[in-house]
Amino acid sequence: MAFPSPVFHLVLLLLLLHSPPCPATSGGSWSLLLPTIGISAMHMQLLPTDRVVIYDRTDFGTSNISLRDGKCRPKSTDCSAHSVEYDVLHNSVRPLMVLTDVWCSSGTLMPDGTLVQTGGTYEGDRVVRVYKSCDDCDWQEIQSGLSQSRWYATNHILPDGRQIIIGGRQAFNYEFYPKISSTENAPSLPFLVQTNEPNIENNLYPFVFLNTDGHFFIYANDRAILFDYVRNQVVKTYPTIPGGDPRNYPSTGSAVLLPLRVVQGKTSDVEVLICGGAPKEAFVNANNGKFDGALDTCGRIKISDPNPQWVMETMPLARVMGDMLLLPNGNVLIINGGSAGVAGWELGRDPVLCPVIYQPNNRIGSRFELQKRTTIPRMYHSTAILLRDGRVLVGGSNPHDKYEFANVLYPTELSLEAFSPAYLDPSSSKLRPSIISPRTVIHHGERMFIRFNVLCPVDPNLVSVTMVAPPFNTHSFSMSQRLLILDTGNTTVAVGESHYEVSVITPGSVNVAPPGNYILFVVYQGIPSEGIWVCIQ
Ligand SMILES: *[C@@H]1O[C@H](CO)[C@@H](O)[C@H](O)[C@H]1NC(C)=O
Ligand SMILES: *[C@@H]1O[C@H](CO)[C@@H](O)[C@H](O)[C@H]1NC(C)=O
Repeated sequence: MAFPSPVFHLVLLLLLLHSPPCPATSGGSWSLLLPTIGISAMHMQLLPTDRVVIYDRTDFGTSNISLRDGKCRPKSTDCSAHSVEYDVLHNSVRPLMVLTDVWCSSGTLMPDGTLVQTGGTYEGDRVVRVYKSCDDCDWQEIQSGLSQSRWYATNHILPDGRQIIIGGRQAFNYEFYPKISSTENAPSLPFLVQTNEPNIENNLYPFVFLNTDGHFFIYANDRAILFDYVRNQVVKTYPTIPGGDPRNYPSTGSAVLLPLRVVQGKTSDVEVLICGGAPKEAFVNANNGKFDGALDTCGRIKISDPNPQWVMETMPLARVMGDMLLLPNGNVLIINGGSAGVAGWELGRDPVLCPVIYQPNNRIGSRFELQKRTTIPRMYHSTAILLRDGRVLVGGSNPHDKYEFANVLYPTELSLEAFSPAYLDPSSSKLRPSIISPRTVIHHGERMFIRFNVLCPVDPNLVSVTMVAPPFNTHSFSMSQRLLILDTGNTTVAVGESHYEVSVITPGSVNVAPPGNYILFVVYQGIPSEGIWVCIQ
């Protein structure tokens, strides 16, 4: 095709105008927290001690941090750590010892604040590991804790406080941890067979969310079901996502359950948002050296609707291997990843350096907002989680089969960064609430009073209270991630100078708020306080 040159330039100009550049100066801020934590952060979980347990894998040689006291792994010459605990308040790390291979595994925070992690590969594929945070705690391992090998599975907290573990490579079934009896096995889930493409899969790390009716929404490849895990029955089959492109590993997109608004004990519409991924052929093409552009679409669906339909939206930037995180003010952050190729070793291209914020309550067409760019690519095996202070911790990126620091595209990243959304800008400090109430235990369906300070006079109608369940993050999915917007009934009253009290009704049901630890925020005009830990029992 030969365009006359002026037309060609016009087309180029229009293309440039159409695809907005990443802003270099506005939309939040980035800071490098630690240039190295010694491992590449492939999996992360925030714990109620404000520490983050991070791990990588054990089967690819030594990391860049030694185990403590000259220790080595049993029956191994490897004396390096493949897990660390990051202390948010002190910005420091301490090495931990995992005994068996945790590569591409999964997990969920339990109601008592311990991380229960499951599976991995090789000798670790049926192991369950428990991490309880304290000054010198380490991993505890339970051999044969799973009834099936699970590699690339998804976990979710259950309303009864146990967890469900769904799928994994060649594992077309699900199981629970802990088990109620020793005979509890792994019921089959044919949906995982139906969505499994031979030699590609495209259904690993399925997107799993607990609906408020107690059933699980399970999305794999290009479609979803609502699943009754107690009766092992599909309750509803959702329409295929328009376009029919896959959204799960290796065509890795991401997904969130949008914030659940709880009003007078009832939740409003339950909605899921799925963004990015890679076209159908992308995995095969990437293996042949052709890197297809990532998907730039999101699908949003009311999973509680009797006749649910996908509504498609277009992101300002295409993205594969992005992470979607719920922010304290109810917005969604889309961060990390690339704009071509797929997940897997050496298969991703063109890092997307700027995050995007999605505002679910804005009118369609004005929901996305580009954020400031970073300088560090976060490709395959990168992670992101929300911290209690409202920052987002970003780590990892290692698209190689071992640590590679030179002469490769996207060298192994050992650094930790923080992205601070614009709500943390000093210009918002007059509006920022500061909670005075202490960390607390709450129960379902009770009235709770929260005291806070705000420097400027407060309009009671603009105060909201949110609760975020801290998820387990790996491979672009945040397991058990959940944000609840509590009913304040506009009850905020002044109780002194710059001093206020708001009363909320806590969620009434374990299907809405499974038991466990949440971070509670007071939000004023979209500006969240630092959170406090609450435990709902
Ligand atoms: C990690 O350790 C290797 C081997 O000692 C060294 O060559 C490399 O520079 C280290 N990388 C970082 C980022 O610390
Ligand atoms: C609280 O204020 C908001 C914003 O003005 C309004 O939309 C809502 O109806 C009010 N709720 C109650 C319970 O008064």
